[in-house]
This record gives sequence, structure tokens and C-alpha cells, in this order.
Amino acid sequence: MDFNSIETTGLTKVYSSSFGKRKVQALTGLDLTVSAGTIFGFLGPNGAGKTTLIKLLLGITFPTSGSARILGEDISGYKIKSRIGYLPENHKYPPYLTGGEVLDFFGKLSGMEGDLLKKKIDELLELVNLSQWKKTKVKNYSKGMMQRLGLAQALLNDPELIFLDEPTDGVDPIGRKEIRDILTELKSRSKTIFLNSHLLSEVELITDRVGILNRGKLIREGTVKELTQKNEEYKLNLEGSNVDSFIKQYQDIFQISKLNNGYCNLKVSDANELNNILDKLRGEGIMVKEIVQQKNSLEEIFISLISESEKGGLK
Ligand SMILES: Nc1ncnc2c1ncn2[C@@H]1O[C@H](COP(=O)(O)OP(=O)(O)OP(=O)(O)O)[C@@H](O)[C@H]1O
Ligand SMILES: [Mg+2]
Repeated sequence: MDFNSIETTGLTKVYSSSFGKRKVQALTGLDLTVSAGTIFGFLGPNGAGKTTLIKLLLGITFPTSGSARILGEDISGYKIKSRIGYLPENHKYPPYLTGGEVLDFFGKLSGMEGDLLKKKIDELLELVNLSQWKKTKVKNYSKGMMQRLGLAQALLNDPELIFLDEPTDGVDPIGRKEIRDILTELKSRSKTIFLNSHLLSEVELITDRVGILNRGKLIREGTVKELTQKNEEYKLNLEGSNVDSFIKQYQDIFQISKLNNGYCNLKVSDANELNNILDKLRGEGIMVKEIVQQKNSLEEIFISLISESEKGGLK
């Protein structure tokens, strides 16, 4: 599959208050593409504009300027809606309905009925591991069960493109793993998944690409690997009476700096330079007790990109 499930061009949304006095620039000139059959993670602090993008793409709210296409069609068309699924953030279902009844209700809303709907409900409850809770009222569901039921709801119409707004919010680690497994399974069935999430360690595990949004602007986009890759950086644990003088002597030549408890941080351009420094250390009689290669987590990158972008005066 080689087409884009989502394409936005200069997509902009300004909300105005009822009297038009206060304006909120929720999304600014967003250019984004998401390839079919991939999992895309859309990240950003609270209020960055993540939900706004989903609402624009679903036609729940309308762009101020710019345009977007989903599954090859302009978002203004309504027919395309039958091919997408949506799990809203903080969704709530009537507490007096059972899990099975919730799915029956939403299935009927999307035009399904009879045995076909019954079969679909059982199949989805099985997929999200809720079969034995089918007849339990949702008021007795845990957060994790509610999210899994929401996921089943989003899949009722067998969508090609699925929007999930914080699907693992409030879910414990085992529940999150289950949701990750379901998403990976959906991907293997060639579905495209667009995921808004704050849980960066989750996103890191399953997404093909991520976009980082701050104050309505896309500040970075790429694969997790591209984003987290660090130039060669190591943490060394050194022992010897002349460690301090070594660091002082070489800190202008190499990027070496002292940390606490006998550790120092070292940045090198390649393995040759690393070995060169190790030779020098040993030549000085310093013992190298430990070398650990450093890597950024997605969370670290996220925090540094956001604070950089704030410093950069993006308002
Ligand atoms: N209907 C609305 N009317 C006015 N302003 C709105 C409306 N919906 C959202 N906003 C504002 O637009 C900005 C983006 O909101 P949005 O809900 O898209 O953020 P988000 O990235 O999803 O945040 P969160 O992580 O908290 O869910 C915020 O400043 C928000 O207050
Ligand atoms: Mg949101």
C-alpha cells in the first residue's frame, strides 16, 4: 500500500468566543501526511491542538483555512465517514447499559443490524478481551475495560482509518500492553492508526512515525529512531587519583565533563575518538570501570523540543 491515509495542507483552526473577542489559535498551518497501514503518534502538551486536529479531520469542527484529505477524499465529504473509526478522549457511555448493549447501540447508529451486528459485537468483545463482561453494566467497568470497550466501539464499522484520542489514559500497565497488542494486530490487518497520546513510552513502542505539536505548530516529525538518536555519547565511571586533573586537561580538546560519584560524560564523533580517549585514560593510570552508551528516550526529546520551541519565542 502506497498512499496517504491523511494529508493536511496549511490546516489552520482559530476558535473564537461567542462574541468573537477572544481568539484561540489552536492549529497553525499544519502540513502532515500519514501513510496507509502505519501507526502515527501525535504528541504535544495539554492544549497543543491534538484533539482539534482529530475533530477537523472527522468534520466535527471546520478549518479556518487550509485543507485536508482522508483516505483520498476531501474532509468536507460525509461519505468517507463510514470508513473511519473514532475513540474520543474521556468518552462516557450510559452507565445503565451493558458492554454488549453499548456496542449494539453504536452498531445500529452506524447502520448495522441483525445477525451481522450480533456476530460483529461478539467478535470485537473477543478481540478486546471483554467477552465475559458482555452482560455487565458499564458502571461496573474499570477504566481499562472502558477504554477497551471504546476501542471495540471504534472498530464496529470495520474502519480503514482509526483515530484514537488518548486510548491508554488511566489504564494500568497490563491493560496498556493489551491495547498495544490490539493496535499492532490492527496494523497487521493493514489499518491506519492515528494516535494522540501523552504516554510517550507507549508511543515509542508501537508507532512508525511521530509528530510533535506545540501551540498549534508541528515542531518535529519523523520515526522514533530519527528523533531519539544521539550523537555518540557515553557515561564513564572512572577511578584514580588524577581523574579531576585529566578532565581539566582535556575538557577543551574532548567533550568530557564531570558528573557525580566518579562518573563523567563524554561526547565523541566516532569509535576511534572513544578509543583514543580510553588509551589516554589508561596511559594516565586511570581505571575505566564502566562505559554506558547514552540514548535519549522519546520523553527526553519531547521535553527538550518543547522547551526549545518555547524559548524560540513561538509565543
Ligand atoms: N470549542 C473550543 N472553543 C474554544 N477554544 C477551544 C475549543 N476547543 C479547544 N479549544 C482550545 O484550543 C486549544 C487546543 O485544544 P485541544 O483540545 O486541541 O488540545 P489537546 O492538544 O488535545 O490538549 P489535551 O492534551 O489537553 O487533550 C486549547 O487552547 C483549547 O483551550
Ligand atoms: Mg486532547
